Amino acid sequence: MTGRGFLGALSLAAAFALAIASGASAAGDPVHGKAVFGRCSGCHALSGPSFAAPPLAGVMGRKAGGAPGFQYSKAMTAYGKVWDEPLLDAFLAAPATAVPGTSMPVGLDDAQDRADVIAYLKSVPAAR
Ligand code: HEC
Repeated sequence: MTGRGFLGALSLAAAFALAIASGASAAGDPVHGKAVFGRCSGCHALSGPSFAAPPLAGVMGRKAGGAPGFQYSKAMTAYGKVWDEPLLDAFLAAPATAVPGTSMPVGLDDAQDRADVIAYLKSVPAAR
């Protein structure tokens, strides 16, 4: 009886761990997102002056085209929305479709990569 109880507890723990793991991937995994950000960092810094692309620390909840000191395209300046998860996902999936005329030339095809990099960007506090 104690054996069965132990096994039962073990499989429960395993199911719980699985639920946590799959939950984390559905919501976006910031650790993997940091690796995905490697594909952005050729152009984007997290903070500080940048000529190639706007700094992305604190981009979630920031107005599109809102990083001070970066010369955005007219399209991004006119876009006028505040970045949230659905908008960022759509922009990263197809930049030129979400913001026609944007000067960001590349996106991310993989939905999980998008969720992960968005989770990573959410975890990076805005620069002060
Ligand atoms: C080849 C250079 C380049 C790469 C690579 C790149 N971007 Fe961009 N990104 C830009 C440029 C340029 C802009 C400004 C677009 C505009 O003004 O229309 C931009 C804008 C953005 C914005 C809007 C920022 C704001 O302040 O409104 C986000 C968010 C963004 N990029 C995320 C990403 C992510 C995430 C990746 C990696 C998956 C990535 N970018 C890869 C060049 C790049």
